[in-house]
Amino acid sequence: MYPSPLHLRSAGTSLLLAFHTGEAQVVHWGADLGSELPDLELLGAPVPHSALDTPIVGGLLPQASSGWLGRPGPRGQRSDGGVPGFAFSPALRVVSAERVPAQNGGDTAVVLHSDPEAGLEVRTMLHLNPGGLLELSHALTNTGDTPYQLDELGLVLPVPGDAVELLDLTGRWCRENHPQRHQIAQGTWVRSGRHGRTGHDSSLLVAAGTAGFANRSGRVWAVHFGWSGNHEQYLDSLADGRRMLGAAELLGPGEIVLASGASYATPVLYAAYSDRGVDGVTERFYDWFRARPQHVRTQSADGERGGSGKARPVVLNTWEAVYFDHRIEPLIELAESAAELGVERFVLDDGWFRGRRDDHAGLGDWFVDETLWPEGLTPLIDAVNSRGMEFGLWVEPEMVNLDSDVARAHPDWIVGPAAKSHKDGGRLPLEWRNQHIIDLANPQAWQYIYERIDALLRENNIAYLKWDQNRDLTEHGHRGRPSVHEQTLAAYRLFDALKAAHPHVEIESCSSGGARVDLGILQRTDRVWASDCNDALERQTIQRWTQAVLPPELVGAHVGPTHSHTTGRTHDITFRAITALFGHFGMEWDIRQATERERIVLKRIISIYKEHRGLLHSGVRVHADLGEPQLRLHGVVAQDRSEALFAAVVLASIAAEVPGRVGIPGLDPERTYKVEALMPTSADLPVTVEGDAASPFVQIQPPAWLDGGLTASGRFLTEVGLPLPVLRPEHALLLKVSAV
Ligand code: DGJ
Repeated sequence: MYPSPLHLRSAGTSLLLAFHTGEAQVVHWGADLGSELPDLELLGAPVPHSALDTPIVGGLLPQASSGWLGRPGPRGQRSDGGVPGFAFSPALRVVSAERVPAQNGGDTAVVLHSDPEAGLEVRTMLHLNPGGLLELSHALTNTGDTPYQLDELGLVLPVPGDAVELLDLTGRWCRENHPQRHQIAQGTWVRSGRHGRTGHDSSLLVAAGTAGFANRSGRVWAVHFGWSGNHEQYLDSLADGRRMLGAAELLGPGEIVLASGASYATPVLYAAYSDRGVDGVTERFYDWFRARPQHVRTQSADGERGGSGKARPVVLNTWEAVYFDHRIEPLIELAESAAELGVERFVLDDGWFRGRRDDHAGLGDWFVDETLWPEGLTPLIDAVNSRGMEFGLWVEPEMVNLDSDVARAHPDWIVGPAAKSHKDGGRLPLEWRNQHIIDLANPQAWQYIYERIDALLRENNIAYLKWDQNRDLTEHGHRGRPSVHEQTLAAYRLFDALKAAHPHVEIESCSSGGARVDLGILQRTDRVWASDCNDALERQTIQRWTQAVLPPELVGAHVGPTHSHTTGRTHDITFRAITALFGHFGMEWDIRQATERERIVLKRIISIYKEHRGLLHSGVRVHADLGEPQLRLHGVVAQDRSEALFAAVVLASIAAEVPGRVGIPGLDPERTYKVEALMPTSADLPVTVEGDAASPFVQIQPPAWLDGGLTASGRFLTEVGLPLPVLRPEHALLLKVSAV
């Protein structure tokens, strides 16, 4: 007798599970079904010719023992007398399935599967959060007497036949999270991440949707894999018409061998269904983030919300300002200049520790460099604090240069494919930015790193760590065996232990920009560095798609130098400022070099940010669907729809002479609003052409509403819209919308 069906429901989403076949079959994941359900046994599939004689069942653990011919969920084997390959085809069947009380509301179920003959048990957790985001994970236990080698344990969810298009994200250094899209066809589509870290090209989101699904239309089934190590994301589209959207940790040969009684837990697969396009998926993720107890607390016109975290301070990061040139006087001047603009947090980037004059040496020696800082960091920290700013520090705890005291003293702490250390002739992985990786699976190495970072935090008044990770974990082994899995968990433990010892220190996850952005690392960090590219044009796309999953308050966004260091482009300060506003705002350049007009605009945008961060960091993220691909309109609307900020952005020259009217999405159709331009206004425009700054507009006459604003109903603004001014390419217009 198998358990009765389970129906989890929350925020317009249903997850319906049936067990009468012995599998945990997802009958439906999508729109809420209401409470009345038919006899699910009548939904059994037909049996075609030239096929197994029973209907094929694809459950949460797809297996050949139920006729599943696609990618299996569990894969592994036992050895008998040294011969591998036994227990290769498990028949895991449901033993129990029950609802359990959920700590934070929502709807939770636990399903237990067992195959006594293969000696395996799998416990599946399904939690449908109050905001409709589903969390799915498995834990597999070896109940047999001999060791079991687990090769893969996938997490899958079915998507229906009318999901015909697939959207995922890819990228590289300085170009993270760019979308790509294709028609779903038969076969298995796979994205593999073998970087040992999440990866610049990893897809933050894999979304299957109905034909032409867009920002705000279409039905979408989307998943995110919360893991910072090797992984695969896939869509299995079978000859019988079934599709499974899935993800699994990508394990090395023999990486997981479970002794009798031992378990392996998968990372969590996060899944969101929306009948309102990608923006609906985004809302479910934001709701989940913002319900976390540690999340940023915000205050906006519609009240206070969030967790115990602090409002996001305005940041000045020193990297693109001084790079490795650490000298106290210029740094204090920079701090002074920052304080005058209204900066609230000053972050000292790479270059402060022993031997670190460039990127060839020093990683691993986490002591303040005595030659650069004879009195330690205290004089700089005091200078920063006395100007009303917090102090933040860059670290890269998982990495080591061969040219460091720690590498010289402990060659066996350096990761490689060989069982012996490189000093004893073992091969090291290829270098990357002249660096290697500390073996955190080695308890002594882990303890050393913990103690060094802990000491820095105890000895200095540090409010924030920028935690970097600047290389892939290639050929990553512990004593000759693959160990990305263990390294990832050990790194998580390091974050967790430091957080527990220093609960008020915020941590940023940076990895050569955005190569470690996932919900696994975000369980223990407070924001991410989305990209090393501060070019506003590139950032428009990087931030748009990073924020498809992460709310703006978790996405570091800095105004870069006048001429972008990574692309060489020159952008007007208003475009750079408006772009950084829609994130956790900061600056990263030598602002002592800023022109007078740049400083005026920076002061204005900082005051706009401070006035609106409550809104920006608690509201609903919306993206208009416009016919012109080079024009974007995106914004944040307060939860009670009383106010909103929007940016109209021209990425490249557009086809029409004038951009035309754009409808403003997300407003309350029944309310009356005033729309005004906030930037650029006459306050931000160059009076004369100063330096290379030119007017963002190119028009003989602006649209009539631009000077003084327009009052209209939400319905009118959404359906009829506003005629935009003629903006030059690579410029933006910031709009404020307020209910009157
Ligand atoms: C890579 C980061 O992404 C940069 O912001 C900077 O911190 C450098 N590392 C420092 O080495």
